[in-house]
Amino acid sequence: MTALPDEADSPESLVAIRRVEADEAAALIARLAALLQDAVASGASLGFWHPLDDARAHDYWRGVIAEVAAGKRWLLVAERAGAVVGSAQLEPSPRQNAPHRAEVQKLMAHRAARRQGIGRALMDAVESLARDNGRTLLVLDTNTDSDAVYFYRALGYREVGSIPGYSLEADGFGRATTIFYKSLAQGMMS
Ligand SMILES: CC(C)(COP(=O)(O)OP(=O)(O)OC[C@H]1O[C@@H](n2cnc3c(N)ncnc32)[C@H](O)[C@@H]1OP(=O)(O)O)[C@@H](O)C(=O)NCCC(=O)NCCS
Repeated sequence: MTALPDEADSPESLVAIRRVEADEAAALIARLAALLQDAVASGASLGFWHPLDDARAHDYWRGVIAEVAAGKRWLLVAERAGAVVGSAQLEPSPRQNAPHRAEVQKLMAHRAARRQGIGRALMDAVESLARDNGRTLLVLDTNTDSDAVYFYRALGYREVGSIPGYSLEADGFGRATTIFYKSLAQGMMS
């Protein structure tokens, strides 16, 4: 359990961050779908257009669960008072020359629970999980015009640059993405 700042005295305010395996994720699929729909509705594209319907959201999570079952993806959820209030994923690189690298994907905090430290707590857990598995170089990308850019900067991620028109809106309008990385280790790099 992680006690969030300013709320540590109320049991309802305690946020539990845990890694979930495929069977647990399957049991949570409706809540995970609702979380994704909320994030997309908030303006985060996360690979989808708003409105994201139930079928597509469930389909997405079924794909995630299959990859979790195959060990290709690690999934974390944040829960408060029985509700799923956040989630994050880490995809360890399968490349021979990148046993130290992983990509952070689909970090989300429910709109009703933002700016309460849930995103930061999830990323702390992501970084611990990465370290525990020898993944000391984290990479990610996020929409250039999103709040997530401020978030990742605040957490010490370094901006590499932006790619214009990386994704498309439903109306065909291009949206830039910004690439970030963070090294969790002191090592030899060139
Ligand atoms: C990005 C996201 C996960 C942040 O979650 P959160 O729980 O609100 O973040 P936190 O409360 O832990 O914020 C940590 C710090 O990040 C920064 N930050 C977070 N949101 C911010 C915002 N909207 N504007 C400016 N800074 C922000 C602040 O420095 C904040 O610390 P503070 O609240 O003490 O000032 C959330 O905004 C979200 O789900 N966005 C939609 C999905 C998305 O874009 N995900 C990233 C794609 S990979």
